[in-house]
Amino acid sequence: MSSDLISSSNLFFFNHTLTFIFGITTGVTIFTILRTLQDFKATSQQSTNNAVKTVADQDAEYIKKRIEADFTISRETLLRVTKHIVMEMKRGLHSDGQTLKMIPSFVTNLPKGTETGSYLALDLGGSNFRVCEILLSTDGTRVRCRQKKFIVSEELKKGTSEMLFDFFADAVDIFIREVLGESTSDFNAEYKKLGFTFSFPIKQTALNQGTLMVWTKGFTTSGVVGKDVVNLLQEAFHRKNLRITAAALVNDTVGTLISHAYSDPQTNAGVILGTGTNAAYVERIENIPKWTGGPVASGKMVINTEWGAFDEDHIVIPLTKFDKKLDRASNNPGKQTFEKMISGLYLGEISRYALVDLMKTGFIFKTKNLEDSLLSKPYHFETAYMSRIERDHSKDLSDINALLGDVFKIFDSTLEERSVVKRVCELVGLRAARLSAAGIAALVTKMNKLDGCTVAIDGSVFEHYPHFGNRMRDALFELLGISAENIDFAQARDGSGQGAALIAALADNV
Ligand code: GLC
Repeated sequence: MSSDLISSSNLFFFNHTLTFIFGITTGVTIFTILRTLQDFKATSQQSTNNAVKTVADQDAEYIKKRIEADFTISRETLLRVTKHIVMEMKRGLHSDGQTLKMIPSFVTNLPKGTETGSYLALDLGGSNFRVCEILLSTDGTRVRCRQKKFIVSEELKKGTSEMLFDFFADAVDIFIREVLGESTSDFNAEYKKLGFTFSFPIKQTALNQGTLMVWTKGFTTSGVVGKDVVNLLQEAFHRKNLRITAAALVNDTVGTLISHAYSDPQTNAGVILGTGTNAAYVERIENIPKWTGGPVASGKMVINTEWGAFDEDHIVIPLTKFDKKLDRASNNPGKQTFEKMISGLYLGEISRYALVDLMKTGFIFKTKNLEDSLLSKPYHFETAYMSRIERDHSKDLSDINALLGDVFKIFDSTLEERSVVKRVCELVGLRAARLSAAGIAALVTKMNKLDGCTVAIDGSVFEHYPHFGNRMRDALFELLGISAENIDFAQARDGSGQGAALIAALADNV
């Protein structure tokens, strides 16, 4: 029994020892396996990290170089662009339905600088509608202006024609009562001619008549395309019992040209570099084969080029994938290619696409989530921010840091990341300025004015974007050589108001 006991206790002992040893062994084994697995995971994680880092670094270099290359327009390309614009201008002057619409404005005289009187001007440029009273003083040199601005809501831009034109009529009504202090029912504008600046592609059929060909600058208001916009305005005035008649329908570029020519007779072109972009210039009647309006005493006609549509057929300007994305997501895909690379409505959005790409590929803001930042929000990156970014010359780019935090909820950016943001803006801004210069070189070449003329330029991009004018000037030298010195870029202001008034004043001479 005892032996049994012993043996059983031995067995017990043996069993437990075995279990114990087995347990320890298993434990050790499991521990070792786990440890090995952990080490393996850590090592492989590290090697994956290393691999990712290396690939990412290579990618980053590649992406950086590619973005630089994609946005850079060489002198050769710019020369080709200029030549092609001249060619398209000729085609547009020859017949309708071309890429450049080359619209005769029915403005055939430049002002003499002696025009006087009191005028009303209405100005729809984009997000603002302005009503102005313009007084051209008797000595013909001074202009006085009383005005009121109204915001055109996104709802109106996408609404109906009646909503939009009733809004204009209401604004005029408010202006007459509040600014002029007159009663609307007594107001008879016969003594005040009205100029209507409607800065969209209008096929002009008379000085005070023209149909909208297509909307630009984000408008999609229904019932306006194909209609005479002066008629729509008069109908709205009628609905509101306003007895006012429009004497002239004007594009802002034409207004800019005319208002600047009032004080500088060398002015032969008007350019807008703002929310949208476009140019008008003085053409000789014999160079406009499509003109069927009969003889013109002055032999000249101001042409609204509508150059924003240039290269819609994608022949000369190299597009980046960001331009293509912007175009696809826009209200007018396939349209206004030149405008989308130059104007204020789009420059910020192009930069945003480029920055989002850099963020997605881990080149900047690696640790941040795109969706948490406001960089993912379309059109949130305004062109005005690019101006602010390009203006930050501080050592640590502190204002860019503040802007990234305040506007995009991107905090703790590194100095390197902020320089990348700045570089992207520079590239996009520089390209826009160079393309604008190509447009101007084309105008001057077409007019044969290489020996000298003034180009009046208005718009927020030209006025406020840092270095824009200088970059244009540099590019103009690349394109025209020493002749560029003969071309004067003059900052014009309020061509849309004063220009419309002057054109209304010139109406009798047409
Ligand atoms: C858009 C319009 C054009 C206008 C320009 C500048 O390109 O189509 O008519 O002149 O913007 O405002």
